[in-house]
Amino acid sequence: MAHSAPAVPNHIAIVMDGNGRWATRRFLPRVAGHKQGVESLRRCVKACAARNVKVLTVFAFSSENWNRPVEEVSGLMDIMVGALEREVPRLTQDGVQLHFIGERGGLSDKMAAGLRNSEAATAHNSRLVLNVCFNYGGRWDIARAAADLAARGEAITEASLDRAMALAHVPDPDLFIRTGGEQRLSNFLLWQSAYSELFFSDRLWPEFDEAALDEAIAAFQRRERRFGQTSAQLGAAGLRDPQAA
Ligand code: IPE
Ligand code: IPE
Ligand code: MG
Repeated sequence: MAHSAPAVPNHIAIVMDGNGRWATRRFLPRVAGHKQGVESLRRCVKACAARNVKVLTVFAFSSENWNRPVEEVSGLMDIMVGALEREVPRLTQDGVQLHFIGERGGLSDKMAAGLRNSEAATAHNSRLVLNVCFNYGGRWDIARAAADLAARGEAITEASLDRAMALAHVPDPDLFIRTGGEQRLSNFLLWQSAYSELFFSDRLWPEFDEAALDEAIAAFQRRERRFGQTSAQLGAAGLRDPQAA
């Protein structure tokens, strides 16, 4: 076990940041950066599937992004609706099962229907699970999960909360990437990233290509994940994830 090839992360999470700066540097409107961001996501999904990554979770729109100028918010909504219409056949070809994670109340009827339909259309695919976090916040997820348990009269424990969270259908992320140079979580996957390896890339999201992904995976493979144990313990037992035991 200890001498086998280093494992590819099973689950990668990405804060896709830097679209606005990418556009501004080209004297383009910020929305042009978000359009380019969709292209970059398509490339990343294909690359993850090709590398045998099983789950990709991306941050597309945060609970706080509503505070942006109205033109940018409505531009982002239009891009999302357009991408849903265009991408579903391609995603199916690549074996991608889509899930949207986030608060759906407050989205337009058209958007809500688009999310539901594309989830239904890809539900049978099984090569890669793609979770798109949209109108999502880590605090929203924790508070909502706790409220659900309380409403059902269930005890709030780590295990019951974990089952009530929006990403209960997948294991926790192994590798957490943020592009765009900032080194913060910005309310993404607060609960689930407890033991994720963090990787910060200076590349702006539209420029995050296969080589950049491979660099992040290679950095991950050089890390020693100890999960609270000592290096010596891991050496004795072989690298293992006690969460998976
Ligand atoms: C990330 O890119 C995409 C969204 C938040 C929707 P930004 O739009 O935050 O890009 P920068 O950080 O301003 O460059
Ligand atoms: C985080 O990026 C949200 C998404 C990538 C969707 P932001 O650009 O909104 O984060 P802050 O405001 O710089 O922390
Ligand atoms: Mg940003």
